[in-house]
Amino acid sequence: MSRGDESGLHFIIIGGSIAGLASAIALRASGHNVLVLEQERQLGGSDSVPSGVARVPPNGSKILFDWGLGPEVIENTIVSEGFMVYKYTGGHGPGLDCVGLNRWDPEFLTEARGDFRIFRHRDLLHILYDAAIRPPTPNDASKLSPKVTVLFGAEVVHIDMDLCSVSLRSGDIHIGDAVIGADGAGGIVRQSLMREQLEDPTATVDKYDLPTGLSVCSANISKVDGLTVPEFAKFYQSPHSNLGTVCVGSNRGALTSILGKSTELALSVYTPDCSDRGGWTRVADKKMSDVIGPCDIPFQNLAAYAGPSVCIQIKDHHELESWVSESGRVVVLGDAAHPFPPAAMNCYAIALEDEHRRDRCFRIRNADKHYITTLTLPDGEVQESRDALMRANQAAGRNVMDAPESSLQDIIDEMRMVFGYEPTDDADEWWMSWGRLRDASEA
Ligand SMILES: Cc1cc2nc3c(=O)[nH]c(=O)nc-3n(C[C@H](O)[C@H](O)[C@H](O)COP(=O)(O)OP(=O)(O)OC[C@H]3O[C@@H](n4cnc5c(N)ncnc54)[C@H](O)[C@@H]3O)c2cc1C
Ligand SMILES: *[C@@H]1O[C@H](CO)[C@@H](O)[C@H](O)[C@H]1NC(C)=O
Ligand SMILES: *[C@@H]1O[C@H](CO)[C@@H](O)[C@H](O)[C@H]1NC(C)=O
Repeated sequence: MSRGDESGLHFIIIGGSIAGLASAIALRASGHNVLVLEQERQLGGSDSVPSGVARVPPNGSKILFDWGLGPEVIENTIVSEGFMVYKYTGGHGPGLDCVGLNRWDPEFLTEARGDFRIFRHRDLLHILYDAAIRPPTPNDASKLSPKVTVLFGAEVVHIDMDLCSVSLRSGDIHIGDAVIGADGAGGIVRQSLMREQLEDPTATVDKYDLPTGLSVCSANISKVDGLTVPEFAKFYQSPHSNLGTVCVGSNRGALTSILGKSTELALSVYTPDCSDRGGWTRVADKKMSDVIGPCDIPFQNLAAYAGPSVCIQIKDHHELESWVSESGRVVVLGDAAHPFPPAAMNCYAIALEDEHRRDRCFRIRNADKHYITTLTLPDGEVQESRDALMRANQAAGRNVMDAPESSLQDIIDEMRMVFGYEPTDDADEWWMSWGRLRDASEA
């Protein structure tokens, strides 16, 4: 509809989730007007669908603090201190087989200048949304102050990458100076770039993203119900609630954590028992007890108390050759650019920043894939040596993941690299290139 005025460019962002709202905040701060188009009728979809946890590592929480959102972040999160590691099937009676404990190294957190924070996904969305649409303060309320508008129920069905226009299901058309695809791995922008790059006009995301056979299912367990499971009762109480659980199984894995500032426990299970195409905004057909498979009794009990679940297929995603269209006006961000394995360690930090350095991003994503593989190793020698390593550490009073010369150490090193990273240098470069685009558009 409207082109940018002299106060900045007019950006259209497709997708009002983590990456879309984070870039709206950053773009507005750089003086641009932003229209966010979100297909769901409300932020994060319907309230009747359970919201999972957002694990935000130090570098991600650092960005939120830098944006002045510290008070909201503190109010809505718990600080993760680390996690306990259990076997999925330890096979010893009614208890759990504890492999060890991993605490985040304080030195390493100081180095990274941030905390490891646990949000409820929906709370993080609300914090970002409120910050994006907040009216300007009296100081910067000049008539040219840039604005973020978010339209809900606005499903984009077509993009013209040369004209920089998008069409909605309603028939409305919006035109901008640039279009940002923050519409996730299955979104239309990633698919449009795929078609352009593969020169296959019939390419679909489903044709090129192949299922791995593993899904992740998430649900929550109310405190009242959860307290009936003795092994987990302590997770509902501070300070234990600041320790999550990682449960390592044969071809399966499970994670628990307190659901941000709520009193509920979130349970996620990596499972081969669910082929539901799934999605974060709809309740899955399968219940937690259907997908948990063979596991120790406390986990079985926990699954029995779980509410409705969401299940997401884990895929091997097609790699885009470039995140920018041939026209130079359409760019993808977040999962639309580089889909991360769901419920992994780093997906939120990556979506919060405007990550565009492909090498680094791929290294981090490989660390996340590696982490899931390590968690779900099948029975056999490799799994046995993993367990022996962790148990030896535990016996020696070390963190379970401390293992010089081992693949676990690679994960730790990867995490050190990742958490210590300063995002602003990269982000600056990105904004500078948009500055050049603005100069070009004014010329
Ligand atoms: C509702 C929801 C809940 C989630 N909950 C969790 C969780 O509990 N734990 C976890 O680990 N990860 C969760 N995720 C995934 C997590 O947000 C992402 O892995 C990661 O943060 C990257 O975010 P993103 O913004 O790039 O993509 P996404 O979070 O996938 O967001 C994409 C957004 O684009 C919108 N969209 C897609 N197509 C269109 C279109 N054609 N027109 C308009 N809008 C469109 C979607 O509705 C969505 O809001 C969730 C995602 C969603 C959408
Ligand atoms: C737990 O899940 C139910 C839906 O299954 C949802 O209504 C409730 O709000 C969730 N609790 C929290 C704290 O998100
Ligand atoms: C933070 O680390 C994540 C991985 O943990 C990485 O994806 C992201 O680029 C880093 N972000 C920042 C802000 O440093």
